[in-house]
Amino acid sequence: MLSVSGLTKTINGQQILRGVDLQVAETETLVIIGRSGSGKSVMLKHLMGLMSPTSGEVHIEGRQIVGLKERQLLPIRKTVGMMFQGCALFDAMTVEENVAFPLYEAGERDRKVILGKVADALDSVDLTGHEQKLPVNLSGGMKKRVALARVIIARPHCILYDEPTAGLDPVVSDSINHLIRRMQKRFGVTSIVVTHDMKCAAHVADKVAFLHEGQIYFYGAFDALMASRDPLIQDFIEGRSGDTD
Ligand SMILES: Nc1ncnc2c1ncn2[C@@H]1O[C@H](COP(=O)(O)OP(=O)(O)OP(=O)(O)O)[C@@H](O)[C@H]1O
Ligand SMILES: [Mg+2]
Repeated sequence: MLSVSGLTKTINGQQILRGVDLQVAETETLVIIGRSGSGKSVMLKHLMGLMSPTSGEVHIEGRQIVGLKERQLLPIRKTVGMMFQGCALFDAMTVEENVAFPLYEAGERDRKVILGKVADALDSVDLTGHEQKLPVNLSGGMKKRVALARVIIARPHCILYDEPTAGLDPVVSDSINHLIRRMQKRFGVTSIVVTHDMKCAAHVADKVAFLHEGQIYFYGAFDALMASRDPLIQDFIEGRSGDTD
């Protein structure tokens, strides 16, 4: 469904990705973990053509997307939806308008069709009744759910989640984890979830990849990650920085 090979990215002389190889099978959920600044968000942006690699290839549903023009990327962006790290909601638009936005962008103008799809998307993320609120009046968890509704309304085959549970309390995080699973079960989507949250990883991962110094340091099942005796992996899992006071 989705694969990258030999992906490298250098920005202003800084080597961020140094040869990443990854494959995600259809309907599978891959969790990517790694230290802050290790290049996880940069890697996700390559999967939608929002960034272009220094070298390497990205295949989405068998199609090589590196080097495509903006116009050629449009169908890819319909196939792959991304929930951004900061939600990226439009502050001046209501929940309803935010969620409807991808439909307008795709040229849909039939108000009845739009409202019907918005209602379905909001129902999928348990936000019915909040249509007229502005983002500023939503809790962190609600914002994430609006962002997810805006992604799923376009019916992507693949969803990329960048830190879906960051900054949320454990209960709200748990509900987001369930939603990620629900999207996989209900719509059969293939997912990549970037997270620091090991509970989230445990809940949603079919496979886990650990990105370290621009390369995939570990790839395998979540249980294998937890059982690993590699000091680097253990330090990450247990949240040890190696610093002394
Ligand atoms: N557009 C850009 N221009 C210059 N440097 C960038 C750009 N985007 C990312 N970087 C750099 O690339 C590195 C990786 O950033 P990235 O956002 O991918 O980290 P991350 O793994 O997602 O971290 P976090 O867990 O904190 O979100 C950082 O050093 C960052 O400063
Ligand atoms: Mg990031």
